[in-house]
Amino acid sequence: AGIVKYTFNVSEMKIRRLCQERTIVTVNGLFPGPTINAREGDAVVIRVVNQSPYNMSIHWHGIFQLLSGWADGPSYVTQCPIRPGNSYTYRFKIVGQEGTLWWHAHVSFLRATVHGALIILPRAGTKAYPFPKPYREVPILLGEWWNANVVDVEDEALTTGRSANISDAFTINGSPGDLYPCSSDHTFKLAVLPGKTYLLRIINSALNSQLFFKIAGHSLTVVAIDAAYTTPYRTEVVVLAPGQTIDALLAADAPPACYYMAANAYDSLQIVPFDNTTTTGILYYASAGLPSSPPVMPLMPAFNDTPTAHRFYSNLTGLLYKGTPPVPLQVDERMFITIGMNLVPCDHGGAGCLGPFGEKFAASMNNVSFQLPSKMSLLQAHFSGVPGIYTLDFPDRPPAAFDYSNRELQKNLELLQTAKATRVKRLKYNSTMEIAFQNTALLGAESHPVHLHGFNFFVLAQGFGNYDPAEAEKLFNLVHPQVRNTIAVPVAGWAVIRFVANNPGVWVMHCHLDTHLPYGLATVFLVENGPTAASTLPPPPKDLPRC
Ligand code: C2O
Repeated sequence: AGIVKYTFNVSEMKIRRLCQERTIVTVNGLFPGPTINAREGDAVVIRVVNQSPYNMSIHWHGIFQLLSGWADGPSYVTQCPIRPGNSYTYRFKIVGQEGTLWWHAHVSFLRATVHGALIILPRAGTKAYPFPKPYREVPILLGEWWNANVVDVEDEALTTGRSANISDAFTINGSPGDLYPCSSDHTFKLAVLPGKTYLLRIINSALNSQLFFKIAGHSLTVVAIDAAYTTPYRTEVVVLAPGQTIDALLAADAPPACYYMAANAYDSLQIVPFDNTTTTGILYYASAGLPSSPPVMPLMPAFNDTPTAHRFYSNLTGLLYKGTPPVPLQVDERMFITIGMNLVPCDHGGAGCLGPFGEKFAASMNNVSFQLPSKMSLLQAHFSGVPGIYTLDFPDRPPAAFDYSNRELQKNLELLQTAKATRVKRLKYNSTMEIAFQNTALLGAESHPVHLHGFNFFVLAQGFGNYDPAEAEKLFNLVHPQVRNTIAVPVAGWAVIRFVANNPGVWVMHCHLDTHLPYGLATVFLVENGPTAASTLPPPPKDLPRC
């Protein structure tokens, strides 16, 4: 195993998109940012120098961070932000995971442009992929583009209490593609050789949209999700929630011509205006060259095609492969967590607040709308025993049972109300947790992608309607469930996950739709130290940013 070193200079740069020159924040002047290439077992050292005018912190999405919680990156959870002009060096080891992950800013909305791929190859010499070696590997970052400054978009959503401004384009590797104005000259293009197989490393880095992805004339064989191998799954279309990744094999076996690859939104909410545009890239057979007429366009699923999304999400299974940990059959603790949107009283007068009740949007887990601290990070407070930063009383279940998935419930004002608080859940070292998530439909039914930091989890079952423990258990896959770090809980539905709390530290679990995190759709697990030095979180690095 080796050491992989990078320097990330975070700064503003000018870029032209959709006929306008914009200033965005990027890493090393690249959009998307640089790809981190590492092998399983490597130590990774990344010095982040913040030359932007904004607070910054970077999260290595999906990396376990075993005993290196200080490097996880979410602002006010494991560190205070890196202030403009300052730097912080993230150090972690990659152990027991292979495939595609990514990194992104974990402060305000800046991850819209501050993100990149993180690719983990098998350890040198010892292991190979559990599928035939591809001819070439290609990162495909799906993104979301705003003409406005994304920090302003977020501030507006938070101060007015309305939902965020919708995006102006989706992107493939930073480019909107031929269907948008002034975009054709930088459309992403992939040249392939007939008969060869390519590994597409697909990442949904969009802020607020689940995305369908498809390539005309070709099918895809999914071999991994969230850097965990799957049973090979052949499909015409894939869908990814923000935060999720897919490794898929693409066989260049179509008649040599030009084909569009395309992504459009899967909008489970269906009640607010959303970005219904389609981003494209071009796949062309090198022998045929680029065409003078438009390539073949795939027939994309409709924005509200929940059956297609659900079929894909629920059909995936994990690969029984050497090194795959078995599903723990003995559960130590069960939680039932409702997730969804709520309202909080408006605290700044009527101007931006929603009528007629004078309230604004919030979101919650078990009716607690998570409030990040501002004086110090939760991990610092935990490590140093500083009182008053958080309380250890995050509830194991919602305050009242109700008909969660009923779309008529929005008339119930009492259930709609939530309160902001920093309530954390303590987990015993090595305990096996089972969590059933239930989407609520109080303000409209929506699929929320829940991301857990510090762990992968087994997805035992998922479905629509209200979670019923006895019925759900009948559906459990305890043999080869899919393994993920982000689960798109079905719209007006539920999902059950299991994980072992074997990583001491403080780990946030949140909706990966970026507007929902500041609204409070999050909670935090505080995992106790284990009995030995080898299961104890070490002290923070000297350069850890302070508030
Ligand atoms: Cu990819 Cu907490 O985020």
